[in-house]
Amino acid sequence: ARHTIVDCDPGTDDAIALWLAFAAPELDVALVTVAGGNAGLAQTLANARAVVGLAGHDVPVVAGAERPLFGAFQAEVKVHGADGLAGVRLPEGPPVTPGVAADAIRDQLRRAAPASVTLLGIAAATNLALALATEPALADRVAEIVLMTGALGEGNWTPGAEFNAAMDPESLAVLLSAGRPVTLVTLDLTAQALVTPQRIAALRALGQGQCLRACCDIMDAVPPSRRLGHRGHPLHDPCAVAWLLAPSLFTARDVAVQVECGTGPGRGRTHIDRWGRSGQPANARFLESLDADGFFQLLGERLATLP
Ligand code: BDR
Ligand code: CA
Repeated sequence: ARHTIVDCDPGTDDAIALWLAFAAPELDVALVTVAGGNAGLAQTLANARAVVGLAGHDVPVVAGAERPLFGAFQAEVKVHGADGLAGVRLPEGPPVTPGVAADAIRDQLRRAAPASVTLLGIAAATNLALALATEPALADRVAEIVLMTGALGEGNWTPGAEFNAAMDPESLAVLLSAGRPVTLVTLDLTAQALVTPQRIAALRALGQGQCLRACCDIMDAVPPSRRLGHRGHPLHDPCAVAWLLAPSLFTARDVAVQVECGTGPGRGRTHIDRWGRSGQPANARFLESLDADGFFQLLGERLATLP
């Protein structure tokens, strides 16, 4: 199984992504680090612990950045609610593991073999960037970096930028230039993973486990996406996990990507050179299309194996 570190900000879709990762024998999730994002850090931390507890997992959960490197913290309460889980109550999880996310990440990397660790980032990139920026030599331990971030077109936080990229573009830039393979799961891809009432019903029919039920309760509670015309809501973060489990559900293309770090309206915009216009060498893999039915089937089958 791949040695994996998940950096998250739960977050409705983060919770589901964590359960999918815990259910996957392909992944050995050795550390969960948490940032503020979908709610404030105290809340995302409590949510991460609850998600770990509900799955009966014993992975350490370590607190990280309360806010981005620059600028003020803003929680994305419109989608995830004030509690980050759209009002779905979970029992309290195991205690937090003492320490700081960036230190815990570096610790894992230091003890790992070259090119052996997968960094899965489903929040603003602050924790992962701090870890690599403070000891760049450890980047050689990283096999790959998979990030739910960015957008080819319209953003979901500002007109120009996706939430995770908009929160901390400087940290995203650090990861893009870390010299390790980066895969971007952008809004263009996650818009294809649309949660609909039919899909929730199909998932519910798969079992009675508490994680699967909580996943469906969360899906029921998230409002449909205005951006996508109310047909459902995109299940962003689990797409990044699914890429690690079933790449055949996706098509991908290597691209040059630049993230805008200025202070204007384009802050956090990801310029994805899909057709090679810039002449710049590719620095990321861009996931283009998703077999959505296959994705929801994978999600259901895997979550049905959890408690
Ligand atoms: C990203 O922002 C958060 O709302 C989600 O958890 C996801 O990581 C989508 O823009
Ligand atoms: Ca997230």
